[in-house]
Amino acid sequence: MRRSRSVYRAAAIDEPRLVEGYEACRRAIRRAGGTEYPTARLMPPALRPALWAIYATGRVIDDVADTGDPSGREALFDAWTTAFDEDLRRGDSEDPVRRALVHTMLTWDLPTDGLSAAFAATRADIAGRTHPTWKAWSTYSQAVNTSFFAQGAALLAAAGLYLPLRLRYLDAARQWVDALSVIDNLEDLAEDLAQGRVTVPVEVLTDHGLTAADLTGGTHDAPVEAMIGHLAAQARLWLAQPDLFRELPPALAVVARAVTDIGRLRLERVERAGAQLLHGKPRLPRLASRRILLPARLKAHVAWRFLTPIGPARSRRDTATPHPPTLAALLPAPRTELPTPPRPHPSGARPPSCPTRRLPRHVAVVMDGNGRWATDRGLPRTEGHRAGGESMRDVVHGALEIGLRYLTLYAFSTENWRRRPEEIDGLLALVREDMVDAAVLDHDVRFRWAGSAEGLPQDVLERLVRLEHATRDRTGLTLTLCVNYGGRIELTQAAASLARAAVAGRIDPAHICERVFAAHLALPDLPDVDLLWRTGGEQRTSNLLPWHAAYAELHFSDTRWPDVDRRDLWRAITAYADRGRNFGAVPDSAAPAAGPPAHDAGAPGH
Ligand code: IPE
Ligand code: IPE
Ligand code: MG
Repeated sequence: MRRSRSVYRAAAIDEPRLVEGYEACRRAIRRAGGTEYPTARLMPPALRPALWAIYATGRVIDDVADTGDPSGREALFDAWTTAFDEDLRRGDSEDPVRRALVHTMLTWDLPTDGLSAAFAATRADIAGRTHPTWKAWSTYSQAVNTSFFAQGAALLAAAGLYLPLRLRYLDAARQWVDALSVIDNLEDLAEDLAQGRVTVPVEVLTDHGLTAADLTGGTHDAPVEAMIGHLAAQARLWLAQPDLFRELPPALAVVARAVTDIGRLRLERVERAGAQLLHGKPRLPRLASRRILLPARLKAHVAWRFLTPIGPARSRRDTATPHPPTLAALLPAPRTELPTPPRPHPSGARPPSCPTRRLPRHVAVVMDGNGRWATDRGLPRTEGHRAGGESMRDVVHGALEIGLRYLTLYAFSTENWRRRPEEIDGLLALVREDMVDAAVLDHDVRFRWAGSAEGLPQDVLERLVRLEHATRDRTGLTLTLCVNYGGRIELTQAAASLARAAVAGRIDPAHICERVFAAHLALPDLPDVDLLWRTGGEQRTSNLLPWHAAYAELHFSDTRWPDVDRRDLWRAITAYADRGRNFGAVPDSAAPAAGPPAHDAGAPGH
């Protein structure tokens, strides 16, 4: 209770009877041990009690529908929902869960149709039904789940946040909801069977040579395993909806991604349990789910605070009903401001003319020599980093001018934590202060961050996330800033992710090829580095993009980074354009600066 006090304060709920009602809801969903409680914690505190009430209602009506002998269940169920209708009219209830729900409905002025649809679908299920086909199953699952989602969406709309679900993404949204339903069904297989319910579509049973009786009998382990594997694979496919997540407001995207990651974890457990699902529910591993939820909570906190603010809770009883979202409201506002063109170099220098096919697509830079530049001038090293920020800005303009597609700048490595605290602060100031903003925001630059969140101060993290979001629609230069980046960590994490997938049976180790490996990297869409350039006279790559730069042309220049400007970038690019790239072939048979051969297939040796 003490922990939820700030939540109630944010939601403007202070009456003890109401707090008692909401606490009952919170305890009910917490006790159920599903994903609702942790998911609600990713939402803004002002909305949490309302979500507890909505989720708890789902749990309670499910329980009512499962209690006692089948003939009595419908009567119990009707008694609960009728009482709710009366309570809603009265504006209060003796039952704590209904009291919280009534309060939520009235406070946020929520429409009742979503709840009614969910009630109707749950009631129709009491007698136990079978779904002959996937289609029939989906209609049922959508009726229950989408109604609850719709209730959540109505709550967000009441708080001023409309879900920008465009028509072309509706199918993706449905599939995603279906994926979560399949996972629920698989986890609840034993419990449902005990209640005489078979949730698997009959057509799926038939495909595996099974009948409903085989499931209840608990025999036929091999075909049951195969069927579970099939259902899990289907759910995994439906769960992956990157386009849909891109459409969501950033904070909700964080929530949806976390739910998806937890969904994958649940699927791993389901697959590991196999035919054991007929006898009991698999448990979600605490540590692994925390590993997903803790960073998600941090990101969600940042995103709700800065990117997706919602209005404070206030009673909407006396205000006009909010307008339902129109199609125009669902579409993102047109962008009015056009990115400004790059600022020319003070010397008047223009980029060299270089045929596009000879331009590197991706240049990565180890911006080295700041410290020595400062020491040579009797200045503290941090002054070198400050001066280096100006070079960085100029080089970004130079990249825009020459038409480069990808520029990656190494700003802070995982090894740089070995430096003194004041220097680390100075390095992070590159991100913390306005250097990145000014270089990026006004121009056609899409900003991305590569690196690990661990250890980074929260304000730096917030700035990186904010910049990524603000520039996500830009189509010109993709500027990736490596902050707290380490190549070996990146590879290790990709390997760990592959190993997990293999253990869970999602990937056959025989099929692991370069393409599959690359898909497990943190930035899977970052193209190979064509040119890796290091300034400051040292000749090493210092753990920068080992995967992407495996075949990069290397260019080393002596100039210390603070003395570098865009003309040095152009020189590096011109030198690159004159080189022949063979990628292991005989020089004559390969065009200069041509792309490498693709290694898509899982051929032996890859
Ligand atoms: C590179 O300059 C800046 C970063 C590490 C971000 P250094 O600080 O390494 O400068 P030198 O190599 O000591 O001169
Ligand atoms: C590489 O420079 C890291 C960055 C530029 C961010 P360092 O100066 O830290 O590299 P080493 O230590 O000389 O290899
Ligand atoms: Mg250095």
